[in-house]
Amino acid sequence: MDPHLMDEIKQVGQLTEADCRLLAEMKPALEKHASDVVEAFYAHLEKFEHLHKLLHAEPGRIERLKGHLNRWLIGLADGKYDESYFERRYRIGFRHVEVGLEPRYVVAAMAFCRAVAAKMIVEAEYANDPQKVERMTALNRIMDVDLNVMLQSYDDHRVQQFLEVTGFSKALFETLMAG
Ligand code: HEM
Repeated sequence: MDPHLMDEIKQVGQLTEADCRLLAEMKPALEKHASDVVEAFYAHLEKFEHLHKLLHAEPGRIERLKGHLNRWLIGLADGKYDESYFERRYRIGFRHVEVGLEPRYVVAAMAFCRAVAAKMIVEAEYANDPQKVERMTALNRIMDVDLNVMLQSYDDHRVQQFLEVTGFSKALFETLMAG
């Protein structure tokens, strides 16, 4: 991903050095509660018939997905959000384009993660912590960064798909969009 864009996403998302330190400190709490968050996440998605179909479209997919989401969640507390972090998140976005998932579901799923993490992680582990609010803010900010990167990936790959299908050049597409 373009390093300039990466910096901008962090800056507009207000992810500070203090947030990064708090997130790294919270890693054990994320590890402790990750499997409960993951179970709640898929139990929620499985309530919607078409999402249920997608989650079970291949044998073993849901089990693999639980592992992926577990690692993703714990990875939020890496504390170091460098190029390789952004590349991983960008690829996750692309995978959802490949499986044909509309981006609005990713946005809604992130909101679900936020709410569940507030209750199952921050409230459970830091109820009386003087930095409780800052911890939740840091978690929200890194989730915003992730969402932004995933949506950027959607945008890039969908434009690419459009160019391939229509045979338009990128320059022509950009001229049309600018108009
Ligand atoms: C916060 C939002 C979400 C996160 C963080 C997330 C995370 C992930 C990750 C880490 C992967 C693996 C990507 C890879 O192979 O490199 C993945 C794949 C996938 N996700 Fe999500 N996901 C989200 C939302 C959703 C939603 C709402 C659905 C709806 C059903 C969904 C369905 C899938 C499917 C079908 C795959 C492909 C599985 C496969 O390769 O077999 N995801 N997701």
